Amino acid sequence: MGYSREVYDFAGKEMEQRRIFAEQELEKRRNRLYEICPRTREIERELIKISACAGKRVIMGADVRKELEILKNKSLILQKELSDLLEKYNLPKNYLEEWYVCDKCGDTGNIDGKVCSCMKNLLKKTAYEQLNKISPLSLCSFETFSLGYYPSSKDNKTGKIPFEYMQSVLKFCKKYADEFSGDSHSLLFQGGPGLGKTHLSLSIAQAVIDKGYGVIYVSAPNILSRLESERFGNNAERKGETEQFLNECDLLILDDLGTEFQTKYTSSAVYNIINTRLITNRPTIISTNLSGKEIQELYGARMMSRIIGMLDRVEFIGNDIRQIKRRERKK
Ligand SMILES: Nc1ncnc2c1ncn2[C@@H]1O[C@H](COP(=O)(O)OP(=O)(O)OP(=O)(O)O)[C@@H](O)[C@H]1O
Ligand SMILES: [Mg+2]
Ligand SMILES: [Zn+2]
Repeated sequence: MGYSREVYDFAGKEMEQRRIFAEQELEKRRNRLYEICPRTREIERELIKISACAGKRVIMGADVRKELEILKNKSLILQKELSDLLEKYNLPKNYLEEWYVCDKCGDTGNIDGKVCSCMKNLLKKTAYEQLNKISPLSLCSFETFSLGYYPSSKDNKTGKIPFEYMQSVLKFCKKYADEFSGDSHSLLFQGGPGLGKTHLSLSIAQAVIDKGYGVIYVSAPNILSRLESERFGNNAERKGETEQFLNECDLLILDDLGTEFQTKYTSSAVYNIINTRLITNRPTIISTNLSGKEIQELYGARMMSRIIGMLDRVEFIGNDIRQIKRRERKK
């Protein structure tokens, strides 16, 4: 996957920070060791000295092989003494080496000219964070989702008891997040304003991110205007980048479907996003105030058969919690 220059710059700086941190920590450990066991400092100095010394003698015409042999023996003895001392003080064998986040590449991000897996992960994480930074991802979780807002008396329109029904919705969403895998089902959250659709979809996002998946949360109006400006704007580097993320992330949360400014372009863009993900078996959670009939009217029958046919519908019922909370605040 291609990333923007900002993402590469950010990841490069993070790698540099990791290396600096590893060096600083090593320096601290080394000084601590010198304090508790001054002999280790002498050994380290001698090790440096003998290698410099051997080099000098070779230049002066000494027998290279013999010199190297002497050097090797001397340094082996010193190294043995050093490792015995580390053991004596109950310190790990690698105490005097850098402790990198990634041992494979020593936090350089490269192995033999190839991008290391740690760098790939960092790039991915950085790109997702950048896309998600405008969303209220951290504010909603299963823990802050309360069933207390849903009435325990029968709802006339649906014949259901909102409290009991929403309890089962909550359970379903927790299970969905718990068992999430790259090919989980897609969901359609439907219902009036303030019933917890965004709250629960963000709770799922949070749990799925914690499992290490790449999740993107977007609201339909935001993402569509972004796609539009990317497509018709003149930043060549950016072209197609967002689209690729929307198509390839492990879980896409498309919130507020139907509230975007409607044009021919936006309705076909919505169809394409959903369709591409369905074809490639990647899960999407869509939230909307629209009924099935309204979706059909806005986006056409083709879209409707896709959405209704392939997504698991989850209805949200109850009273507008946004308003309830507003009233509570006023009291
Ligand atoms: N069960 C709940 N417990 C606690 N807070 C809730 C609950 N449901 C919703 N809220 C809060 O109420 C507000 C509105 O909820 P939310 O945004 O999830 O509604 P929505 O169904 O997405 O509405 P809309 O259709 O207008 O987007 C948010 O601040 C949310 O955190
Ligand atoms: Mg919402
Ligand atoms: Zn690495």
